[in-house]
Amino acid sequence: MINNQHIPIMSNEILSLIECEKKLSILDCTFGGGGHSKKFLEKGHNVTAIDQDDNSMIIAKELKKNFSNIFFYKSNFKNFDLLDLKIKKFNLILLDLGFSSNQLEDKDIGLSFQLNSNLNMNYLGGDLNAYKIINFYNKDELQRVFYSYGEIHQAEKLAKYIINQRSKQKINTNFEFIDILSKSGVNFKSKKIHFATQAFQALRIESNSELENLITFLKKVHVFLEINAHLAIISFHSLEDRIVKNYFRDNKINKNKNYQNYKNWGYEILTKKPITASKFEILENNRARSAKLRVGRFIN
Ligand SMILES: C[S@@+](CC[C@H](N)C(=O)[O-])C[C@H]1O[C@@H](n2cnc3c(N)ncnc32)[C@H](O)[C@@H]1O
Repeated sequence: MINNQHIPIMSNEILSLIECEKKLSILDCTFGGGGHSKKFLEKGHNVTAIDQDDNSMIIAKELKKNFSNIFFYKSNFKNFDLLDLKIKKFNLILLDLGFSSNQLEDKDIGLSFQLNSNLNMNYLGGDLNAYKIINFYNKDELQRVFYSYGEIHQAEKLAKYIINQRSKQKINTNFEFIDILSKSGVNFKSKKIHFATQAFQALRIESNSELENLITFLKKVHVFLEINAHLAIISFHSLEDRIVKNYFRDNKINKNKNYQNYKNWGYEILTKKPITASKFEILENNRARSAKLRVGRFIN
């Protein structure tokens, strides 16, 4: 069942960026369950929404019954510039990265280590998935994925152990994979999180090309921003947050209107440190605990 009651993360903080402004054009590149978009529509703004997910398309259709000013496009946001968008410049562009609660609960996608699913983890409909990575990547590739995307220091040991196990029989399910992790002898980082968290994160990032999508998107997003527009990005892991932080730093404008990037545009950085969710919000929505929001104001 599609849960269309998605609780949008830090929506008050995002709405406060555009307070008092009349009808704006907003590009929500990660529509998900439509939580943020609905808040914008309720304030009378125009929303152009993008998501790769079929369920998002259904939710957007529902929303359209009450709000005529939403336009949905099913696409990977890294290709947003190739879409024939009705509106070409926006006052706010929002990315709320990662997967939705619907996707987390979807057994076919298998993002959760609490559900025994077939190994997949691809929530964007691409060709790569965790099964192919675990059963067919060579040692160096496995090591790269676990080291770079899971920050697992003993990535080589883990890669070798997986290759040894899969030579006996293919690794088919999340629970089989968790069993292998537990027997691998690898020291996983923290006692505070489930020991499979880092390995699952690594497979998910690789399966969906999460970091490449973000980097490709950031290379061209400035073309779609109105002067004084806000670019707001919520990330959920340090690898993504670092990319966003460096992007704003590399394209920062200083007080004398000097553009750090030697181009005729840049950002005033509105969040020297990322904004995090309030304790109250975290109590209501546990997923908000790891969210980091960074915002820049586009100057041209
Ligand atoms: C955290 S959810 C967004 C939730 C949404 N802001 C809300 O309030 O309902 C992230 C969504 O982004 C989508 N997504 C992630 N990466 C994407 C990409 N590269 N292209 C298109 N959609 C993407 C996922 O399919 C998911 O629906």
